[in-house]
Amino acid sequence: MNKINIAIDGPAGAGKSTVAKLVATRLEFIYIDTGAMYRALTYKAFQNKIDFHDEEELNLLLKDTNIQLTSAGKVYLDGEDVSEQIRSQEVTNSVSFVAAHSSVRHEMLVRQQNMAQSGGTVMDGRDIGTAVLPNAEVKVFLSATVEERARRRYEENQAKGIPTDFEQLKDEIALRDKRDSERATAPLKKADDAIEIDTTQLSIEQVVASILEIVAGRT
Ligand code: C5P
Repeated sequence: MNKINIAIDGPAGAGKSTVAKLVATRLEFIYIDTGAMYRALTYKAFQNKIDFHDEEELNLLLKDTNIQLTSAGKVYLDGEDVSEQIRSQEVTNSVSFVAAHSSVRHEMLVRQQNMAQSGGTVMDGRDIGTAVLPNAEVKVFLSATVEERARRRYEENQAKGIPTDFEQLKDEIALRDKRDSERATAPLKKADDAIEIDTTQLSIEQVVASILEIVAGRT
């Protein structure tokens, strides 16, 4: 398999990370979860009591921050494993404010482009096909109705024993999508040359198979 880059974008809860991880495993590629990078910075901002609307402070903080993603899916923030902490409600509901700042996005973009320099990556996020890897050989945009995305998250939470209000969860997902889609810099958007897959009625395995088929057609 040629060492191409695969960009997978889409709204919250569309199954990007599950699918991207499986595609990466099948192709023996590296999976890069760019959302985890924004989450790690948001978590650190919480710890340092930095205002999410203070772009300058956040950018300074990021410059002094090491974020490492391991092949086992762990996220290290300045050497500390924060894989669990960055998935908290607190971080989830604030991350899109931190991710809206253009200087923060620029620094993240440089780091993400470096990670994909040698190819062989499956990178998921919101702006991979449009901004981070505009020349990615394969671009996929995963969508699903907000109802279905909320249902999947709800079931995940139930399985983990996290009490969840379905309507509230749905509102939070819709609000995060709205913020991510309406920001000025690199908003959530399907790249013109991305292939959209509506996953509402599809199983994870069906989505993975579709992507592998697209990859096979491009290599
Ligand atoms: O993918 P995940 O839900 O973990 O992403 C968390 C948040 O990080 C998104 O809601 C968005 O605000 C931000 N993000 C982004 N650009 C990316 C990846 C994530 O703005 N490429």
